[in-house]
Amino acid sequence: MTAARAQWGSRLGFILAAAGSAIGLGAIWKFPYIAGNNGGGAFLLLYIGFSLTIGLTVMLAELALGRAAKLGPVGAFRKLAGKKWALFGYLGVLTGFLIMTFYSVVGGWTLGYMAKAVSGDLAGLSREGLNQVFTGFISDPWKPVGYHGLFLLLNMAVVLGGVKSGIEAICKYLMPGLFLLMIGLIVRALLLPGAMDGVAFFLVPDFAKVTMGTVIEALGFAFFSLSLGMGAMITYGSYLDDEAKLVSSALWVIGLQIACAVLAGLMVLPVVFAFGFDPAAGPGLSFITLPAIFDHLPAGKWLCTLFFSLLLVAALTSSISLIEVVTSYFIDEHGFERRRVTLAVCLVIFVAGIAPSLSFGLWQDVKPFGRSIFDLLDYVTSNLLLPIGGIAISVCLGWLSWPVLAKQLPEELPWLTTALRIGCRWVAPLAISGVLLNGL
Ligand code: PHE
Repeated sequence: MTAARAQWGSRLGFILAAAGSAIGLGAIWKFPYIAGNNGGGAFLLLYIGFSLTIGLTVMLAELALGRAAKLGPVGAFRKLAGKKWALFGYLGVLTGFLIMTFYSVVGGWTLGYMAKAVSGDLAGLSREGLNQVFTGFISDPWKPVGYHGLFLLLNMAVVLGGVKSGIEAICKYLMPGLFLLMIGLIVRALLLPGAMDGVAFFLVPDFAKVTMGTVIEALGFAFFSLSLGMGAMITYGSYLDDEAKLVSSALWVIGLQIACAVLAGLMVLPVVFAFGFDPAAGPGLSFITLPAIFDHLPAGKWLCTLFFSLLLVAALTSSISLIEVVTSYFIDEHGFERRRVTLAVCLVIFVAGIAPSLSFGLWQDVKPFGRSIFDLLDYVTSNLLLPIGGIAISVCLGWLSWPVLAKQLPEELPWLTTALRIGCRWVAPLAISGVLLNGL
C-alpha cells in the first residue's frame, strides 16, 4: 500500500455517489414490473419495511466495514474477521460480476431506446405497436448485443476517470435532472383518463395477494435496489474519510431510493391502467409503457430521448459501482493496473452478457431450472446471493467486529447503537435466513 487511498471530494459527493449506485435500473426498470407482478401496494409496503430495517442495518454495516478497513469486500472481510471470511468477499465479487452480465444488457436497451426515440420510431404507436417494437428489438440476435457492448464502453470511460472526477461528477449534476423529469411525467400520467386505477393498484395494499414468493421478491429487491450484499457499499465506504456521518448518509441514500421507486411506480402504473397494458408484462414494462405517455406531451420525441438518456445515466452510476467492486479487487489484492483490469473485466462481462441477451430471442427455449438465462441470473443474484452476502456482513459486524461499527455511530444516540447491535447480531441474520429457507 503506497499511494494514499482515493477519497470522495465532499460529503454531498459521497451521498450522491452512493445514491447513484442505488438508484438505477432497479428503481425505474425493475420496480414497476415486479410491483406489477406481485400485486402492487402490498409489495411496496414490504419493500419499504425491509429497506428501513434490514436494509439500513446492512448498509451501515457495509459502510463501517469499508471505512474501517479501507479495502474492498475481500480485503475488508479478511482484515476484520479473519482469513476464512474472505470467502464472502469473493462471493460478493462474483455476484457483482453476475449482476453486471444482465444489468449491462438492460443498460444496452436504454441506449437502443434512445436511438429509437431520436429517430421517431416510438411516436404515434398503438399499444400493440409498442409491444411489437420492444419484442422485436430484444429478440434481435445482434442489436441488443451491440448496445450491451456500447454500454460497457461507456462504463469503461467513467471508471477509468477514477473515483472523484468520474463517478462523483456524473452523479452530482444528472441525478437531480432525472427526478425532475420523472415528476413532470407523473403529473401528465395522472391526468390521463383511467390513471387513478393504476394509482389505486400501486398504493392500496391488497394483502390477499401476498405469498412467500412476494416476500422473497421484496427482500431481494431491497438488497438489489440499495446495492447491498455484495460489497458495493463496502467499496464506496472505503473511500470515505473518518469525519463523514454514516447514519445520516445511509438514511439519505435509502430515502432517495425509496422516493425514486415510488416515483417510478407512479409514473409507469397509471399509464399501464390508462392504456390497458398488462401490469404483469415483465421486464419490458417500462420500455413498453413510457413511450405511450410521451405521445401526449408537446415535443414528446425530445422528452422521450431525454428520459432514456437520463435513465442511461442512472444505469451508469449503478453499473460503475458493480464494476468497481470487481476491478478494485484485482487492483487491491493483486496490484494490477486500473486501466488494464477495467478493460479485461469489461471484456469478460461483454462475452458473458451475450447469453442473457440472447435468452430473449435465439436462446429463448434454453430454460435451466425452468427460467430463461436472464431470469435465472436476476433471480439467483437478487433473491439468493445478495441476501446471503447480507447475512455474512451482519454476522461479521455483529459478532466478530462489533467495535468497528460501534465506534462509528453517534455517541448521543445510545439507543441506536443498541438497536443496531441487536439488528446485526440477531434480527438481520435470522430474518433473512427465515425468508430464504421458507423460499427453498
Ligand atoms: N442498485 C442498483 C439499481 O437499483 C443495482 C446494483 C445492485 C448496484 C447491486 C450495485 C450493487 O439499479
